[in-house]
Amino acid sequence: MRTLIRYASVVLPQSIEKTHLLIEDSKILEIDAAEHSDADEIVDCKGLHVIPGVIDDQVHFRDPGLTHKEDLHTGSRACAKGGITTFFEMPNTNPTTTSCQRLEEKLALASEKCVVNYGFFIGATEDNLEELQQAKRTPGIKIFIGSSTGNLLVDEQAALEKIFAETSLPICAHCEDETTIRENREKLGEPSSVADHSKIRDHHAAWVATKRAIDLSKKYEHRFHVLHVSTRQELDLIKAAQGIVTAEVCPHHLFFNIQDYERLGSLVQMNPSIKDPADNTALWEALKSNTIQVVATDHAPHLLEEKEKNYPQSPSGLPAVENSLALMLNQVNLGKCTLQEVVHWMCEAPARVWDLTNKGRIEKGADADLVLIDMAKSDTIFNENQVTKAKWSPWHGTTLTGWPVRTWVRGKTVFQNGIITTKPLGEEAIFDHSLKGYWDSV
Ligand code: DOR
Repeated sequence: MRTLIRYASVVLPQSIEKTHLLIEDSKILEIDAAEHSDADEIVDCKGLHVIPGVIDDQVHFRDPGLTHKEDLHTGSRACAKGGITTFFEMPNTNPTTTSCQRLEEKLALASEKCVVNYGFFIGATEDNLEELQQAKRTPGIKIFIGSSTGNLLVDEQAALEKIFAETSLPICAHCEDETTIRENREKLGEPSSVADHSKIRDHHAAWVATKRAIDLSKKYEHRFHVLHVSTRQELDLIKAAQGIVTAEVCPHHLFFNIQDYERLGSLVQMNPSIKDPADNTALWEALKSNTIQVVATDHAPHLLEEKEKNYPQSPSGLPAVENSLALMLNQVNLGKCTLQEVVHWMCEAPARVWDLTNKGRIEKGADADLVLIDMAKSDTIFNENQVTKAKWSPWHGTTLTGWPVRTWVRGKTVFQNGIITTKPLGEEAIFDHSLKGYWDSV
């Protein structure tokens, strides 16, 4: 099967070219193909852009165990709509993904349910070192250095040291310090509103845990990815560790701050908490200066009725996979960043951080994971239009300009004209960890 994508503005690694792309089966066969190349399907794309499929390296799809909130099928369909062609899911499901057997079970489940490509982190506990050492078929190890949804937590220094010293997979972590959180909670007494969430999970909690992890990364020369950075203070630590440490920011930490609690209440309750307007500014600057390399969602769906409980009974997290790319494309239209920067943060950088060889760039021979985007299309996010089982968005009522209009996963269309496939067309992402990550590949 050959598809010719004609007259598109194609976002290539070094430039944007008005050209024709030829896909054959699951691969990009030719860039700059002849206008009239032989193809089974010709897609005329005048006025549209083609970018590599987005790789979201942090989602929670709740499968198995909490499938009333989301499952691998609904979560992956929401990805297809949002232009995400590969996702990596976190281990805080029920049961947790903390052994090689559970990892393989999840991969098997995904092969039956996912409409986009998938990968699964293996979660660290205080006593599963052997599993972490033996795990294959995974982007890496996830440590909760600070608890969040679920009960995964590694807080003991000796256990953390062993993970950094005695494993070889890339490591990433949720960094919020348990002791600081506990002390803040005790100091504050009975919480009076959801705004207290940012006082409990404060700047210091994030800084302490990020410092602890980065110190271990340097000590054991073990590459490390800081998930969902939320504070300006963490940035100096990350910058000083360039070469071994990479970092990620989520749209909610770029766009929301504590002033939004009044309007959105627990809809913007998440871990790490949202912080100050000064943090939004610093996180943007860190992205622009490559202190942070990756934008990912931390898609963490909970039902509205769960979110509407009084704090602290309300759970932390928000759904985002179907809107993250559009949120960033809208920023391109506002002049805050360029399309090539967005492609770096959402496609190329995550591929490099996690050692994906054939994804993240439009080049000859790469997987035909592609997204057609209409930079002029305006659309409004409404709760009722959301594909996630959560059926709500903190961006409800927000109009964005710049949307994905078609998504290909390994050459097959999974989203077009508002229709999302139900076929399990996704495939397991293949990692080549001999590549050694982002800093070795730039
Ligand atoms: O707010 C959050 N919710 N942050 C996380 O890291 C986990 C997530 C969840 O799984 O609900």
